[in-house]
Amino acid sequence: MNTKTTVITRSQLDGQFAYCDKIAALWQFEGRTPTAYVETYGCQQNEADSEKIRGYLTQCGYTIQQTAEHADVVVMNTCAIREHAEQRVFGNLGALTHTKRRHPDQKIFLCGCMAGETKVSDRIKKSYPYVDGVFSTHHLWQFPEILFNVLTRKKRQFYVADEPGSIAEGIPQVRDSRLKAWVSIMYGCNNFCTYCIVPYVRGRERSRQPEDILRECRELIESGVKDITLLGQNVNSYGKDLENGMDFADLLAAIAEIPGEFRLRFMTSHPRDASTKLFDTMAKYDKIAKQLHLPFQSGSSRVLKAMNRHYDREKYLDAVNYAKSVMPDLVLTSDVIVGFPGETEAEFEETISLIQEVHYDSLFTFIFSPRTGTPAASMEDPTPKEEKNRRFDKLCATQNAISEQIHGNYIGKTLRCLVDGKDKELLTARTEGGRLVRFAGCDSLIGTFQDLTITGSTTWSLTGTL
Ligand code: SAH
Ligand code: SF4
Ligand code: F3S
Repeated sequence: MNTKTTVITRSQLDGQFAYCDKIAALWQFEGRTPTAYVETYGCQQNEADSEKIRGYLTQCGYTIQQTAEHADVVVMNTCAIREHAEQRVFGNLGALTHTKRRHPDQKIFLCGCMAGETKVSDRIKKSYPYVDGVFSTHHLWQFPEILFNVLTRKKRQFYVADEPGSIAEGIPQVRDSRLKAWVSIMYGCNNFCTYCIVPYVRGRERSRQPEDILRECRELIESGVKDITLLGQNVNSYGKDLENGMDFADLLAAIAEIPGEFRLRFMTSHPRDASTKLFDTMAKYDKIAKQLHLPFQSGSSRVLKAMNRHYDREKYLDAVNYAKSVMPDLVLTSDVIVGFPGETEAEFEETISLIQEVHYDSLFTFIFSPRTGTPAASMEDPTPKEEKNRRFDKLCATQNAISEQIHGNYIGKTLRCLVDGKDKELLTARTEGGRLVRFAGCDSLIGTFQDLTITGSTTWSLTGTL
C-alpha cells in the first residue's frame, strides 16, 4: 500500500465547491431551502469532522437541524472503537427506515470510522438498501461530489477505498460553539496498539503544516474563542513527518505566544513519547491549561507489552511524576482497559495499584472489545465475561472514591473559570483542568473568565459562587 500522504490541492477543493454551487442551484430550482441533520458518535476527532460536514452542507444551501425527522439529508458520522459503539449505530440506522418512509426523498449517508471497515461497507451494501452513500474519513473532502452524485444519479455511492490518508486545508466548518474550538493538528495513527482499530480506519500519521494551524488558531482567538483543544490520536508525534524540525512542544509554545485571553489544551498524548520538554513547555506558559490526558491502558508491564504500547509501568510513572513535579496543580486523566486477553487477576491488581498511586481526577474505563483485523482479536482470552465485569466494577469503584476525594479538596479554593453556558437555572463554567462548576450568576457572564470559590462537590462536578 502507498503510505505517502496525499495533499488535496486548492483546485481539487475548488472542484468540490463547484459541486456545492450545483447542489444549491438544484434546490433553488425546487424553490425551497433543504434541511440536514448530522449525528456524531465517538471522539472529538469525529466532532471536528462533523463540523466540516456541516460546513459543506451549509455551503450547499442546507439549513442544519437537530433531528432526522423530515431532514433532506441525514449523515451518521460513526465510531468503530468498540463493538457497543457499532451496535448503537446499526440500531439507529435501522430506526431511519421509518423517517425515510415518512420522507421518501431523504438521503442517508454513513461516514466516519465504521465506513473504513470493509465488513461494514459490505453489510450496508447488502442489508441496508436505504442508505444512499458511504464514505470513509479519507473521502470526507469529497462529500459535495458524493452528495451531488446521490441527488442526480439515483444510484448509491460508496467511497471507501483503503488509502493512507490525505490532508485538505480550507474545508468550511460550522463550529458547535463560539467559545470553544477543536483544532486537528494531525490525522491518523502509526502506533498499532494491538487492540485498536484506529490505524486501520484513519490511516497513517500525518501532520498539518504549522502555518496552517497557527493561522486557524489566530482567527479563532480573534473571533472570540476562549478555549482551544488541539486534537490528534497521538499529539506527541506531531511534526515527525514534516521536515522543518518542529515538534509538538514547539507548536504548543508558538500557539501560546498568540496575543489574547484564551486557554490551550490538547489530546491525546501517548506516554511513549511524552517528553520532559513537553511538560516544561506546559509549565512555562500560563495559557496552556495544566491538564493532561495521558492514557495508561494497564498497570502491568507484561500487558502493556502485549498491547504494543512501547512503555512500561516504570516509564509511565516517571513521566507522570515529572509532570507533577513541574506542575503541582496538574489535573490528570487517563484511559484504561480491563480484561485485555490473558490479563490475570494479579495484573489487574497492578492497574488498581497504579490508579491509587497516581490519583487521577477522572478516568475513562473500558472493557476490552475485540475488533476484527486487530492482533488482539485473535489472542487467547480465557477470562469469562462475568469476571471482566467484576474487575470493571472494582476499577470504577476505586476511581470514584478517588475522584470524590479530589473534588472534595477543591472546596474553599478560588479558581479562574471560563463561563461557558447555562444548565437550567445555573450558569456552567470550566476550571483550567476542565472540571465542570455550576454557579448562580447573570447570563452576561457567559464568555468571560471569572474567579469562582468552590462551595460543594460530587464525583462528577463542583458548585461554586462568584
Ligand atoms: N489515541 C488514544 C486513544 C484513542 S481511543 C491513545 O492512544 O491514548 C480511546 C480509548 O479507547 C483508548 O485509549 C482505549 O482505552 C480505548 N480502546 C481502544 N480500543 C479498544 C478496544 N478494542 N476495547 C476496549 N477499549 C478500547
Ligand atoms: Fe489506537 Fe494506540 Fe493509536 Fe491510540 S495510539 S489511536 S490506542 S493505536
Ligand atoms: Fe471512534 Fe474513530 Fe474516534 S473509532 S474513538 S471516532 S478515531
